[in-house]
Amino acid sequence: MSLAESWNKYAVGSKPRRAANAKGETTWLNWTQYADHGPNESVLGSVEGRRVLELGSGSGSNLAHLVTLGATGLGVDVAPARETVAKKRWAGLAGLEFRTAEATAFLSETGETFDVVLSIFGAVWFVDPHTLLPLIRSRLASGGTLAFSHLPAESQDVKPGKAGLRHNHSLDAWEILLTSHGFAAVSASLVDPPQGETVGTMLVRAVAR
Ligand SMILES: C[S@@+](CC[C@H](N)C(=O)[O-])C[C@H]1O[C@@H](n2cnc3c(N)ncnc32)[C@H](O)[C@@H]1O
Repeated sequence: MSLAESWNKYAVGSKPRRAANAKGETTWLNWTQYADHGPNESVLGSVEGRRVLELGSGSGSNLAHLVTLGATGLGVDVAPARETVAKKRWAGLAGLEFRTAEATAFLSETGETFDVVLSIFGAVWFVDPHTLLPLIRSRLASGGTLAFSHLPAESQDVKPGKAGLRHNHSLDAWEILLTSHGFAAVSASLVDPPQGETVGTMLVRAVAR
């Protein structure tokens, strides 16, 4: 099965995000695997007027929130079913586009420059960072922000997930990887899980040098 087919299968089995969160908001950004938990979009700084790229954008809900705050957004996802669902769900929102593409292929081909790149349990988790980070850096404006989240590091650096290989790295490993691929001001932290849960979330932010 190809990468697109296997992620498409995963997409078909995934539940759509709720219409509103616990605060009654209809759009919001969530970096973690838990509903209504953890930091919000403030991790990215102000996104107003900024061009934002999400790698592995899924249903597009996180990116849509940034667009409601004044960004323009492009969501790239390898699974065609994601583009269909995201376009349908966010059809009324101007300044937001979705495209089916594998992240490294997209970054290699695009001529666009972005101010912010984010990936929430997305392509940054599933592509070898030695391949992906230089490509992200090449399409990110100097001073631009990269931020991403994934499950905390396990004993193995690369581990099979439901639909792809997960690249699990520790806080220290991300700092070394990002610094060696043109990023600075790396801040990597573990977001504590909510009460009753045991697994936290790795959240990493860096600035393009
Ligand atoms: C676990 S889901 C997370 C989706 C979304 N970011 C969210 O938080 O709901 C991972 C997403 O990344 C996409 N993906 C995985 N590998 C990718 C790649 N190499 N290029 C583009 N998208 C990828 C998958 O199709 C899937 O939609």
